[in-house]
Amino acid sequence: MNTVATVALLGVFLTATAAVSGNGSTETLMTANPGDIAVLPCYTVGNETPSLTTWTKDGREVSSGGVSASPPPAGQRLVVLHDGSLNIIGVLTGDEGSYLCSSILPVNRSFQARVLLQVTSGPDEVSASISANSVLHNGTVVAYRGSSVTLNCSAFSYPSQQLSWAFKGASYSNDTLASTSESSLGFKMENVQPSTQGVYTCMALNTVSNKSVSKSTELLVYYVPGTHPDCRWEPTQDPSYVHFICSWFGLYPTPKLLWGKDGAFQETDRLTAKVNRSLLSDGQILTCKAQHQLLNLQEEKSCSFTLMSPYPVGDPLVTALEATSITLTCSETTSSPPANTTWRRGLQQDSIVTGSKYVLSEDGPTFKLTIFNISKDDEGVYFCRSENPFAVRELEVYLTVKAASSAYTGAIIGVFIAALIVGSAIIVTKTLYSSRHRICLGGGFGQMMEEENGDVLSLVDSDDEQIFQDTVPQLPPLTNGCHTTLVQIHRIPSSDHEDAESSDTRPQQQEDTEQTQEPADLVKF
Ligand SMILES: *[C@@H]1O[C@H](CO)[C@@H](O)[C@H](O)[C@H]1NC(C)=O
Ligand SMILES: *[C@@H]1O[C@H](CO)[C@@H](O)[C@H](O)[C@H]1NC(C)=O
Ligand SMILES: *[C@@H]1O[C@H](CO)[C@@H](O)[C@H](O)[C@H]1NC(C)=O
Repeated sequence: MNTVATVALLGVFLTATAAVSGNGSTETLMTANPGDIAVLPCYTVGNETPSLTTWTKDGREVSSGGVSASPPPAGQRLVVLHDGSLNIIGVLTGDEGSYLCSSILPVNRSFQARVLLQVTSGPDEVSASISANSVLHNGTVVAYRGSSVTLNCSAFSYPSQQLSWAFKGASYSNDTLASTSESSLGFKMENVQPSTQGVYTCMALNTVSNKSVSKSTELLVYYVPGTHPDCRWEPTQDPSYVHFICSWFGLYPTPKLLWGKDGAFQETDRLTAKVNRSLLSDGQILTCKAQHQLLNLQEEKSCSFTLMSPYPVGDPLVTALEATSITLTCSETTSSPPANTTWRRGLQQDSIVTGSKYVLSEDGPTFKLTIFNISKDDEGVYFCRSENPFAVRELEVYLTVKAASSAYTGAIIGVFIAALIVGSAIIVTKTLYSSRHRICLGGGFGQMMEEENGDVLSLVDSDDEQIFQDTVPQLPPLTNGCHTTLVQIHRIPSSDHEDAESSDTRPQQQEDTEQTQEPADLVKF
């Protein structure tokens, strides 16, 4: 930053033009600062000493002297020197003007010279300030996006000045945001944006001396988006580690991020934590916290991961007819981070690849295995294996292959059973009719049928109670006087995954099927 140059005290003057005009006279332009000692030259074209020189300003005599004149009284500010030049001891504002010297040279010749004196000062006391939200140690001013900022500049120059504000930013610059010829210049910027971040310079220019003084201030615009940090994970080259990535872009200045509970926040917009897989477990919560100057500590933003073991789900028992094709399906929606799900065959868990026999396909979270041209050899166990960075789980599917002829046998058996059912129905109807006054079948029974889908209910008439008395506890009679009907519930394998799980051998899995959301530990990195 420029500072106002101190005015030199002795004989500082600028000779901008010095032209010799006709009749042996010259005209000189001089500039002096208030307080200077200025020497206005007169006879400079020869080396004779004038006998008498008279100086006039704007037609009025200001001083005269020479070898033949008496010495000037002490304390006079304007003194004609020995060679005829005019010495002004301590220039004042107002001394500016057109000076004319008339000298009488030896041999009765005369000489005239003109001096145009300019008196200038400044720019002095240049001050530039920006008022915004805060000021950093190094003087840089900080404004928050959307706030307003006031810029003020002032300076003094004699006889006239120009003040202007200029901007230099990363994406654009503007040499004149505003300007004035007054002694101060202020303006306000509303709703500041990141693009208004940059260096603001106030320049004060003395329009007579062309001397200029500038003062610059840096303005930073801070902002946070309305978003949260983003938590992701990535596998690494080394399979024993997982990368957890926390990122938060679009802030100024850069946020500080921290994975986990302990440790120091790091100033970055993307923080990667490399975690040993053996430290990860089901239900564990990995959290990334973010700090920024514009956020209070209470509203610290964060993102997190709840680790969940894989949980492949599907039908555990599948039957197919020989020479047809069948599609086994399995879906994986639980795992976090997402699992890699594959189909395997047999207790050796041979991997299956797509070809003429098998086709593997994926439909969102559903993984399908289609087996073509089924033969008895295809019968056996298949595994839908789901693996994420810290756990493996398998769904075991047993495929039963029926010979095509068994369908015919099945039909015969079916007809036989049908006949049996019709026969029993007749008997039951007859029995019911004869004991209709003793049967109480409430609405509750119907409801139970709906609720207990998949359970087989054997209804036993109260007349036959004595048959079961030894094995089945008898229910107390209801208050409405009706006899209670005994109900026996047999479980058959059903297709929901709880049963799938019980039939699952899970060679690599411990008893951790209950996904307890206990307050998980944070990873120590
Ligand atoms: C002042 O400090 C801020 C933050 O530390 C920095 O970004 C800026 O460049 C500094 N400005 C100057 C002029 O040193
Ligand atoms: C991961 O952690 C386990 C248990 O703390 C340790 O035995 C193993 O060496 C670690 N793996 C690596 C690659 O550091
Ligand atoms: C089906 O399998 C049988 C026995 O494995 C084989 O002989 C036959 O060629 C196969 N058919 C097709 C169409 O692949």
